[in-house]
Amino acid sequence: MAKSAEEQLCEAAVEGDCAKIGDLLSAGADPTYFDASGMTPLMYAARHGHADSARLLLSAGAPWNALSPSNISAGDLAMEHAHQEAFDVLLNAGIQAELVLGTIARVAERNGEKEGGGLNYLEDRVSFSEDKLMDSESKAVMMEWERPLMEAHARAVCGGGGKVLNVGFGMGLVDEAIQRYGPVEHTIVEAHPEVYERMLRSGWGKKENVKIVFGRWQDVLPQLESYDGVFFDTYGEYYEDLRQFHQHLPRLLKPGGVYSYFNGLCGDNAFFHVVYCQLVALELGNLGYSTQFIPLPVKDCLTEEVWEGVKRKYWQLDTYYLPVCQPLSDSE
Ligand SMILES: C[S@@+](CC[C@H](N)C(=O)[O-])C[C@H]1O[C@@H](n2cnc3c(N)ncnc32)[C@H](O)[C@@H]1O
Repeated sequence: MAKSAEEQLCEAAVEGDCAKIGDLLSAGADPTYFDASGMTPLMYAARHGHADSARLLLSAGAPWNALSPSNISAGDLAMEHAHQEAFDVLLNAGIQAELVLGTIARVAERNGEKEGGGLNYLEDRVSFSEDKLMDSESKAVMMEWERPLMEAHARAVCGGGGKVLNVGFGMGLVDEAIQRYGPVEHTIVEAHPEVYERMLRSGWGKKENVKIVFGRWQDVLPQLESYDGVFFDTYGEYYEDLRQFHQHLPRLLKPGGVYSYFNGLCGDNAFFHVVYCQLVALELGNLGYSTQFIPLPVKDCLTEEVWEGVKRKYWQLDTYYLPVCQPLSDSE
């Protein structure tokens, strides 16, 4: 039986035959096609390290973020097989696409087209156990396995002493660690009523250097000052909320200060995670901040038992990249 144009496109992508890919696309072959094994032409080009073929397919509309049945994207394949140029092409495509999508979403929001308010989590019950804080759908808000990460975040934002701000108390892991550095002032913003009550019951309201601000960070910004260290880790919010928070950094972070955030974006796919690390670093760069990512191995903290009873494994990667952001003017 004759091969379809799309099957031929997959073959040409394996070969990296740009002329053939060009001809097939011009004749109408579909670049969004998935073959019987769940692979797209772009995945084949990436798997075999053909950067030019990947460029061609992307410019014809091949989706950079299509996933195979085993949740692997073209970028993951380029990464796994160490094809640097193809990886860079896909990374760039991912960042550009997400920048455009973000802009479209913001325009839609300005025009009042956004659905829902994202406030549900804050209105629902939460439950605490020894090793986790869960929402009403059994999704983990915070888990004990993150303790070493929180300790490293605290070290990053407390290095300069002075005043520290943490947004999102959760299980208080980062705040316990921040307290060990004896900051002059330690401000904690928390929006969930039950988390807030628990904070008070466990004595956080009585600590001399602690100031608790109850409410959504979006609503309590006028009560916040300028800090030497700022950490951000909320729940039930999106990339856009993190991005919004970053717009306030010039006021919240003192010159010479350090900012860090929980870097959990797309924590279940290695390539998408890299795209989001770079996207945040790019957008922080536009605001005047440099971002360094410190790799921390987490494989040993994450046994299967850790996830028992948890609806979604929000982190599946072997390495956590801890962001350390500083005003660019400090390093000039
Ligand atoms: C992932 S937990 C923080 C974990 C914390 N870093 C720790 O070490 O335990 C997120 C926290 O942010 C709170 N939160 C969610 N949305 C918020 C908002 N808009 N403003 C302030 N706090 C928020 C949640 O109630 C939750 O307690």
